[in-house]
Amino acid sequence: MRYKPFGRRTGLRVSELALGTGNFGTGWGHGSEPAEARRIFDAYAEAGGNFIDTADAYQVGQSEQLLGEFLAAERDRFVVASKYTLGVQGGLHATGNSRRTMIAALEASLRRLKTDRLELYWVHFPDGLTPIDEIVRGLDDLARAGKILHGGLSNFPAWRVARGDAIAELRGWTPLAGIQIEHSLVERTGERELLPMAEALGLGAALWSPLGGGFLTGKYRTGDEGRLTGLGMLVHTEKSARETAVLDAVLAVAAEAGVAPTQVALAWSLAHAAASTSARVPILGPRTREQLDAALAALTLELSPAQRARLDDASAIPLDTPHRQVHDSRARIAGGQPDSILPLPIPVA
Ligand SMILES: NC(=O)c1ccc[n+]([C@@H]2O[C@H](COP(=O)([O-])OP(=O)(O)OC[C@H]3O[C@@H](n4cnc5c(N)ncnc54)[C@H](OP(=O)(O)O)[C@@H]3O)[C@@H](O)[C@H]2O)c1
Repeated sequence: MRYKPFGRRTGLRVSELALGTGNFGTGWGHGSEPAEARRIFDAYAEAGGNFIDTADAYQVGQSEQLLGEFLAAERDRFVVASKYTLGVQGGLHATGNSRRTMIAALEASLRRLKTDRLELYWVHFPDGLTPIDEIVRGLDDLARAGKILHGGLSNFPAWRVARGDAIAELRGWTPLAGIQIEHSLVERTGERELLPMAEALGLGAALWSPLGGGFLTGKYRTGDEGRLTGLGMLVHTEKSARETAVLDAVLAVAAEAGVAPTQVALAWSLAHAAASTSARVPILGPRTREQLDAALAALTLELSPAQRARLDDASAIPLDTPHRQVHDSRARIAGGQPDSILPLPIPVA
């Protein structure tokens, strides 16, 4: 496992693959029993991984509780990230982004995790209500109190991240450390706005569901049900020709390379991350030790340029406006054209 700074805003050094622990526990009726979660955690640590992703809501608090036990022996080896917003239970002030929820949720997470601080605290989802300056100032208060070291925004639109970030910078608050978004071969829309923003601003990017919730393993084509029926959410399906084309390409490259589709999909994510100047870190989501091993095998697979191009082409997304115009302008400049934006031929005087 290699290590990188998590973006250009912090000195935090994280492993190139994070361990997601949404499957740690059985509170959602689909996940890992404690003994299996322990095997996954130990194997990830043994492979050199140090970046742990959890949330208060995962498996109704069980993910954090289990991590509290697993982390106890070597707490300082790990970068521990948790999230608030969805809450462990419902209730007026148990969910949402408010400062009221943030403070209470963090205290409860620290108790479950049996630690006195988090390296990274994410706002899990925007609630559509709480002003961004309340959120960013709340994270700043927690950082100044030493309860978190850094804060970040998960699943927020780029304009809200950029606005919160600018407010923090102008007011001397603790800078946002990063964003967390879904990204994989089957979900690349973050490449329009969110990932270029992260790159430009030096934000780290933690990327969830790198296997599309299991879709990119190809197992649903062979009749395996797994999370699709076990959890009934957070799984991509062949709902359009694009998903089918992406999975066809993954399976073809896997057959050609003689490896599992999981390895191909994650090797693509790692290659994509390596091409970025800002840290992008895929968050693995294994439910078993064997699934973790299959994922870690991606670290040793180098896709050929032709294989990479095949996967890129099958999964390409339309850029849409205004990103298409920006892309075309950049291409014109890179090609030495005298005009950067006009799509029309330059009139000859
Ligand atoms: N910020 C957010 O809103 C957000 C949202 C989602 C996730 N996350 C984070 O990201 C992490 C990863 O997300 P994810 O769980 O969706 O990741 P993922 O890797 O896309 O999906 C994980 C699922 O893929 C299946 N799988 C993995 N390896 C497999 C293999 N070798 N063979 C067959 N099936 C395999 C398993 O399904 P089965 O269970 O069917 O075996 C597993 O539950 C989470 O744990 C969490 O930490 C964050």
